[in-house]
Amino acid sequence: MSVVIKPLRVTDKSRMAEVFERYPEEQDRFDTENVAVFDKIETAVYRTMNKGKLPLWSAYKRVRNYGVKVGQNPKRDVEEVRTQPDYCRFYAWLAAQTKPEAVLEFGSGFGVSGMYWLAGMKYAGGGTLFSFEPNRLWTPIVRDNFASVGGSYDLTEGTFEGNLERITTSVEIALIDGIHTRYFVRQQLALIEGVAAKGAIVLIDGINFSDSMKKCWGEIQAREDFVGVWEVGARVGVVELPSSEVGIGAAVARFFARILGRNKA
Ligand SMILES: C[S@@+](CC[C@H](N)C(=O)[O-])C[C@H]1O[C@@H](n2cnc3c(N)ncnc32)[C@H](O)[C@@H]1O
Repeated sequence: MSVVIKPLRVTDKSRMAEVFERYPEEQDRFDTENVAVFDKIETAVYRTMNKGKLPLWSAYKRVRNYGVKVGQNPKRDVEEVRTQPDYCRFYAWLAAQTKPEAVLEFGSGFGVSGMYWLAGMKYAGGGTLFSFEPNRLWTPIVRDNFASVGGSYDLTEGTFEGNLERITTSVEIALIDGIHTRYFVRQQLALIEGVAAKGAIVLIDGINFSDSMKKCWGEIQAREDFVGVWEVGARVGVVELPSSEVGIGAAVARFFARILGRNKA
């Protein structure tokens, strides 16, 4: 299974457009090249699955407009909360391609998306993952999972909003994967814009999770200041923040990247 990246609006200032265009042709080769790393990560997921269902962060019980019923004593296992493998491999590829100095993600959950970000950054040869998870019962598991891949990471036991000072490098890729409601995501996106590098991309998981999230994604994608907007499969929205580069420069860079990309073996 593979994810499809659908452009919704791409301006001539976008630097990511040509990167995303390359994914369909590069995906198989990248996945094959990294099969050993991805198998190792999925083995860590399997070990995590053996821990069974563990209590969800208590704040979920108080969320308004949540898309699903949470109940009084909610518990989840890793398969219920993890990012699916096709999206995970795309995240690894994205990090490998863009060589970010820093990736920001929240929440960590049990650490699955984070392990793939780390694998992608390792492939790229550097970069730090800043990951946030307020569930104290889950963070030790995240720590073990991240250690199994290695690389540079900073795991905070707490919310993203409450611990912004942990982010010490300007963020080039951010993933919002916490409580999927418009109320939270709107504020989180605004905070990310404050810590993100120019031209950064922000991925928003759960765009079709509920009516609240559909409304939220509708508002975000309508913003004219983003230089590119995409959907990845049916669940992840992507926006590209403006960079300082002038439009014509980006267009020329894209032209050459396309030519060089075509000539690649
Ligand atoms: C869907 S799971 C994340 C799955 C993870 N990205 C993965 O692929 O394995 C959502 C997680 O976000 C955490 N969370 C919710 N709100 C958060 C916030 N404001 N800051 C950090 N983490 C948050 C929850 O405790 C939960 O573990």
